Amino acid sequence: MADAAAPGLGQTVCVTGAGGYIGSWIVKLLLYRGYTIRGTLRNPEDAKNAHLRELPGAAERLTLCRADLLDGGALRAAVAGCHGVFHTASPMTDDPEKMLEPAVRGARYVIEAAAEAGTVRRVVLTSSIGAVTMDSNRAPDAVVDESCWSDLEFCKETKNWYCYGKAVAEQAAWEAAARRGVDLVVVIPVLVQGPALQPSVNASLTHVLKYLNGSVKTYANAVQGYVHVRDAADAHVRVFEVPDAAGRYICSDAVLHREDVVRILREFFPEYPVPDRCSDEVNPRKAPYKISNQRLRELGLEFTPAAQALYETVICFQDKGVLPVSAGPSSL
Ligand SMILES: NC(=O)c1ccc[n+]([C@@H]2O[C@H](COP(=O)([O-])OP(=O)(O)OC[C@H]3O[C@@H](n4cnc5c(N)ncnc54)[C@H](OP(=O)(O)O)[C@@H]3O)[C@@H](O)[C@H]2O)c1
Repeated sequence: MADAAAPGLGQTVCVTGAGGYIGSWIVKLLLYRGYTIRGTLRNPEDAKNAHLRELPGAAERLTLCRADLLDGGALRAAVAGCHGVFHTASPMTDDPEKMLEPAVRGARYVIEAAAEAGTVRRVVLTSSIGAVTMDSNRAPDAVVDESCWSDLEFCKETKNWYCYGKAVAEQAAWEAAARRGVDLVVVIPVLVQGPALQPSVNASLTHVLKYLNGSVKTYANAVQGYVHVRDAADAHVRVFEVPDAAGRYICSDAVLHREDVVRILREFFPEYPVPDRCSDEVNPRKAPYKISNQRLRELGLEFTPAAQALYETVICFQDKGVLPVSAGPSSL
């Protein structure tokens, strides 16, 4: 069940957080490209991970193993003998107790495990735009690119512990990789949208669900980058396979104001109670910042329009029964 020109044949790679939203799409793409995969999960027996065993090629080339990010020994065992590592597992929370230690120690353990294995060609780490844009001193017209880092003090002051944790985890990975001589490449996704392979709705999809199920009556005066989950997975595999890939890669199609998001949702799906009023009727509308996705485009990635990602997210909610299906079909 692998692509005829499968570049991954004969190569084993480890994917941490294999059952998560992005992790599942990375596993699917790696299987398609012929890789043999060791996926780490906190609980391989949990029914929420059953979708992985249904993926084409999984029966022959996917094994699942148990590893918490705080368990260096389990991560070492998962990475031993692998040719590559995709480190996507991370808590996604603003609770500092739950976020910081697993994110930072986990990133360090994965790099150490790759160094000790001696067989790992490259580690690809999933960072976040939260590690990049949280900087109150950035000029409004500045282009956000891979040279930008979030201001840790600003993250602390604003209690953005997820952004803080992702930035510190990425820094810890770079530091450990330099010290241990590990080839590290980092993918930096903005908010990821599009269909979920796993049964549950994860944090980034809740962002859109609340505009469709009546749980909010207004939208925020805020902007955000959006990217399709297939493109996020593609970016990870691309930076692993391209020998010259190096450094950080921002993975984003477009930055949208919430007003644009609700307009897109309303146009595609007029049947849902999508809010049409901003919660902030005083301040000027926030301007979307400019973001560069040039580095991934130079590697050949053609980004799916953000509107399509939003459309597919809603279809996925309907398929999973999270949203009722209307009588009149919507079409893109
Ligand atoms: N989705 C986005 O919009 C977005 C944007 C930018 C970056 N990211 C990054 O992309 C990566 C994947 O996120 P996602 O959206 O796919 O989220 P997700 O569906 O919540 O997946 C997160 C994965 O991390 C695992 N995990 C969490 N805490 C762990 C721990 N202590 N030990 C071991 N595993 C742990 C989870 O495993 P369990 O199943 O055991 O809970 C899950 O498989 C994360 O690094 C996230 O920061 C996501």
